[in-house]
Amino acid sequence: MVSRLIRVDDFDLVIFGATGDLARRKILPGLFRRHAAGQFPDAARIIGAARTTMSDAEFRADAAAAIAEFDPARAQAPELPAFLDRLHYVPIDATGDDGWSDLAALMRPGAIRAFYFSVAPSLFGAIAERLAGHGIADADSRIVVEKPFGRDLESARALNQTLARHFDEGQIYRIDHYLGKETVQNLMAVRFANMLFEPLWNAHYIDHVQITVAETVGVAGRGAYYDQSGAIRDMIQNHLMQLVCLIAMEPPYHFDPAAVRDEKLKVIRALEPLAAGDIVRGQYVAEGAIPGYLDDVENPASRTESFVALKLRIANWRWQGVPFYLRTGKRLRARTSEIAVVFREPPHSIFDQTGPHKPNELVIRLQPNEGMNLKVMIKEPGPGGMRLVQVPLDMSFAEALGPEGTDMPDAYERLITDVIRGNQTLFMRGDEVEAAWAWTDPIIAAWEGGTARPEPYDPGTSGPDEALGLMHRDGRRWREIKA
Ligand code: BG6
Repeated sequence: MVSRLIRVDDFDLVIFGATGDLARRKILPGLFRRHAAGQFPDAARIIGAARTTMSDAEFRADAAAAIAEFDPARAQAPELPAFLDRLHYVPIDATGDDGWSDLAALMRPGAIRAFYFSVAPSLFGAIAERLAGHGIADADSRIVVEKPFGRDLESARALNQTLARHFDEGQIYRIDHYLGKETVQNLMAVRFANMLFEPLWNAHYIDHVQITVAETVGVAGRGAYYDQSGAIRDMIQNHLMQLVCLIAMEPPYHFDPAAVRDEKLKVIRALEPLAAGDIVRGQYVAEGAIPGYLDDVENPASRTESFVALKLRIANWRWQGVPFYLRTGKRLRARTSEIAVVFREPPHSIFDQTGPHKPNELVIRLQPNEGMNLKVMIKEPGPGGMRLVQVPLDMSFAEALGPEGTDMPDAYERLITDVIRGNQTLFMRGDEVEAAWAWTDPIIAAWEGGTARPEPYDPGTSGPDEALGLMHRDGRRWREIKA
């Protein structure tokens, strides 16, 4: 299968924070892959901007080192020298005057201008102001901002207002990298490009939905950030919320930014406030040589959660009475992200089967081993009556799509090219982010107002037992976390 590669228009992309972790780990390697795929016009340039003083040559050497570190298979790729030639560097003081006129002089008239704010949110305002003040950004320019987009509704609103002073909503690209994942976009393809599922996609036929985003890593190395966030701010408010939106939203009238984001917003606004008993938080403890959360964040008194499981409800016609169970955590048994849509049982069984009739289940595996698995009942082969057995219709995208299924673009590659194309469909709108915080804030306030601690859990498990209880008490069970 050959993918259709459409070149983007000529651009100057400025990366603020170009020497930082995200730029080195994701942005520069991602840009290199798009370059190597032939997606960039010859004149397009990438301009690093950061406080450190360095030359173009030093920045190019650092970018090559970043690619060697984070995408080693491509470190020797023949396309690398031409990619490095695209790179330039301007030392800049985000909160002062230094460097801005140099940047202004570098920008080319006629090329699309995109500015990636890969910096702390506290710098967004200063950078936006200077881009506008020095006439570097024009009405067609785009800015890209990363999470965390605020830490509550109030700070998210303040950030939105700061950016709105200099840029229209149509110029602001708020990244949630989960929306750039191929398999996450597949949720929309599965639902809206097939007749098979959508007629059943509602409370009449679906019993519940469960979403698991499990990681094996701990938080060592980024404890200072994580301890201020916890799983609810780091994963639930953004990534898992976006997954809920894509599963639960009504069909947009068209796959375009306004239509898709309007529908997602309606889902978030329809979320019922959580009941206290419908959420469990956990914190991993030390085991043998593996340090616990408190050691990882170097804060022995921390009450921050490294695990959350919750049951949410969506108050609308389609989802009345259908619980969505979500869980995410660090240091769990396996790295696996999946969505399972569990259907109701048939209203009446004509078979004298002893034992439970297992419900149909559609499992969408986001990572690893991306694919879909539809579980159906069939007759167990052989004489001796009608015995039923559940079997999987299991599809791995890698097997079904060939090399393109195994070599999927990273989320950042897709999202950055969308910025250049001016397509906001896979980015969060300001009102969406605010609505997500409005739902999350009371949960955090209740935790902060109390004295309870997260439930401890051992590394390598599925999280605290209380999370299992969340489903057991409804007569349901989580799918096993396994690679
Ligand atoms: C990030 C979180 O946004 O997403 C991390 O800050 C988390 O804590 C990561 O590990 C997970 O992303 P992925 O793409 O590895 O599932």
